[in-house]
Amino acid sequence: MPLFRYSIFCCLFFIITGKLNAQQLTWTQVEPGIWKAVAGKPEAFDLLNAAGAIPYHAGLVQMGNTEFPLPKTEIKVTIIDGKTYLRFPLDRTEQLYGFGLNFQTVHQRGKVLTLHVDNYAGKDDGHTHCPTPFYVSSKGYGVFINCARYIKVYAGTAVRIDSSTPPEIKDRNTDKDWNAHPYSDGVEMLIPAEGAEIYVFGGPTTMDAVRRYNLLNGGGCLPPRWGLGFTQRVQRLTDAAGVAAEADSFAEKGYPLDFIGLEPGWQSKSYPCTYEWDKTRFPDPKGLVQNMLKKDIRINLWINPYVSPEAPVYPLIKPYAASHTVWNGAVVDISIPEARKVFFGELEKNKVDIGVSGYKIDEVDGGDTYLWPDVAIFPSGRSAEQMRQTYGLMMQRYVTGLYRKRNQRTYGLVRASNGGGASFPYVIYNDYYNHQDFITALINSGFAGVLWTPEVRASKTAEEWLRRFQSNVFSPMAMINAWASGTKPWTFPEVAEQVKQMANLRMQMMPYWYSEFAKYHFQGIPPFRAMNLEPGFSDVKMPEKITKKQVNLEENPYEDLSGKEIKDQYMAGENILVAPMFTGQTSRKVILPKGRWYDFYTGKLAGDGEVITVTPGLDKIPVYVKDGGIIPMMPAMLHAPKAGQKVDIEVRYYGEKPGNYKLYDDDGETFNYEKGEYSFRDIKVEKANGKIIGSISDAIAAKPNTVGKVTFKMMTD
Ligand code: GAL
Repeated sequence: MPLFRYSIFCCLFFIITGKLNAQQLTWTQVEPGIWKAVAGKPEAFDLLNAAGAIPYHAGLVQMGNTEFPLPKTEIKVTIIDGKTYLRFPLDRTEQLYGFGLNFQTVHQRGKVLTLHVDNYAGKDDGHTHCPTPFYVSSKGYGVFINCARYIKVYAGTAVRIDSSTPPEIKDRNTDKDWNAHPYSDGVEMLIPAEGAEIYVFGGPTTMDAVRRYNLLNGGGCLPPRWGLGFTQRVQRLTDAAGVAAEADSFAEKGYPLDFIGLEPGWQSKSYPCTYEWDKTRFPDPKGLVQNMLKKDIRINLWINPYVSPEAPVYPLIKPYAASHTVWNGAVVDISIPEARKVFFGELEKNKVDIGVSGYKIDEVDGGDTYLWPDVAIFPSGRSAEQMRQTYGLMMQRYVTGLYRKRNQRTYGLVRASNGGGASFPYVIYNDYYNHQDFITALINSGFAGVLWTPEVRASKTAEEWLRRFQSNVFSPMAMINAWASGTKPWTFPEVAEQVKQMANLRMQMMPYWYSEFAKYHFQGIPPFRAMNLEPGFSDVKMPEKITKKQVNLEENPYEDLSGKEIKDQYMAGENILVAPMFTGQTSRKVILPKGRWYDFYTGKLAGDGEVITVTPGLDKIPVYVKDGGIIPMMPAMLHAPKAGQKVDIEVRYYGEKPGNYKLYDDDGETFNYEKGEYSFRDIKVEKANGKIIGSISDAIAAKPNTVGKVTFKMMTD
């Protein structure tokens, strides 16, 4: 056949076979405002399955119903060669957020990503600790692919020959506006599986779509109260006496402390792990854990899941080991129930059952050069790829189970998660240490259904130490991770007092943090999140000159849509905007969304729908409160209140507008809230003739009540 005729034949063949495999999706409403379609033949082992996620139905019902947010005929699926080709439409003015825990960009339009659980290596290419296959659009909808595979995403980069809105053709010879990245009107994905479940989340706002996703996951996690206090991770070979001494020095110096993290040295051997206490460093683990508990300090233990041949549990683990090892340790197939019995039984024995409060689950992310390879074979028959995408999820699920069966909440750390994991009480961390990128990750965590801590480890200068500490206090876990450096909050004497003030502020704000986490659980609202989810944010006029090129959406749709990309300020709970300072900065710009905003510390008006420049001094991290904003505070205690302990509340009120706030209360330690043993009490504040009139609704009989005396403080004159 001549070459020309052969090419035509090939084209026709592909068009026809492509057509044959194209599938019209049927959308079924699975929850109010959430639809599911099944493309091809999805695999049985998927993300929601691995996570064991059960939707928080009551929360979704409360949100009510909404319209299917996209033109259904524009969502296209084709199965070719055992892979799923998926396409979602994209409008000219849409911006995209999400696709997991990215570190350098908030806007995702224009990116090509491979969603792959991995140790973050400094590049936003999809390889990250939590590559959730979930995105939301500025148009107010979300999409989630429930598949435990490495999904390739073209987030507004691929251009189709049959596009009804193709990019303008330009001549590179003569047109200086020619662009190597022409306009694309779709989000396309290649899923390396013969099918997948696809979920669409309705709005009308982007926040609504995020909330629905979190609620589908079961609602966000609700940590125990103590989890929101301060935690110190000690140097890796610290012994029992050292742990006790550490706790004592926090108490003597007056720094708050709720839990201490022990790093690898608590075990007789690590990398691979034995999961047995080192007898020389910890001769009486139970005694230590219990003595610390008497001082209201809990113990958290570092592990990685790679079992040493010298571990007492090894012979029982061996039958469930994958074909390949990590640091010579066995990789347990924890998708097998019998394997779980042995492995999680080991984590329980002499650890959870002697009072250890939680785990730091390390190394479940990557990287490729030391983790099990994709050619590894697991006894369950699940692929190495599926195990890579879900191992962190499953570790969180089953460790949490050890606590759940004791009706005890835990709060810990993990280095990998994925779609379906929003309800797990774990915070992601890593070994990367860029303060700015840590803040961008904190912003993106709110789009990925996870929590992230910009942990503080060591610093070159007192300034850096304080700046990092300030951001850390406004994050899901206030922590110094001194596993290598042995640093303490007071390591830099020049700023030791300021650090103490920040740690105290964290404790004072506990009623606020706890209420905001309750909203994460019951309403799906991420406690730490992007400005893009804040009403009035896109109304702010940016001071930067918007050049003709930037507003040319035809050329650069992702350059300037709902505004400049903002990755250095974020919302913390309902009422607070945080604008961290970085080393070397003396001033910075802060974008205040439309509506009046007040200085957190002084209550003075800071601005309204504008960009301000602030020079806060080294002592302060710029923080602003919304008009009518209420921040419930408690006295600065050294440890979180215990179950049932009553604490006085100072209600701080900012601005002019009437303030309404829902103060959450429960026992702070058990899962009884799932049986209705909780309350949201209404705090109301109004200003009349320059006077403040505040009230709190009565405690509900038979519900836990930890609220002592309530006072009101007018922050704005
Ligand atoms: C790393 C982890 C650190 C620390 C260290 C101990 O993998 O990211 O935070 O725990 O292990 O060896």
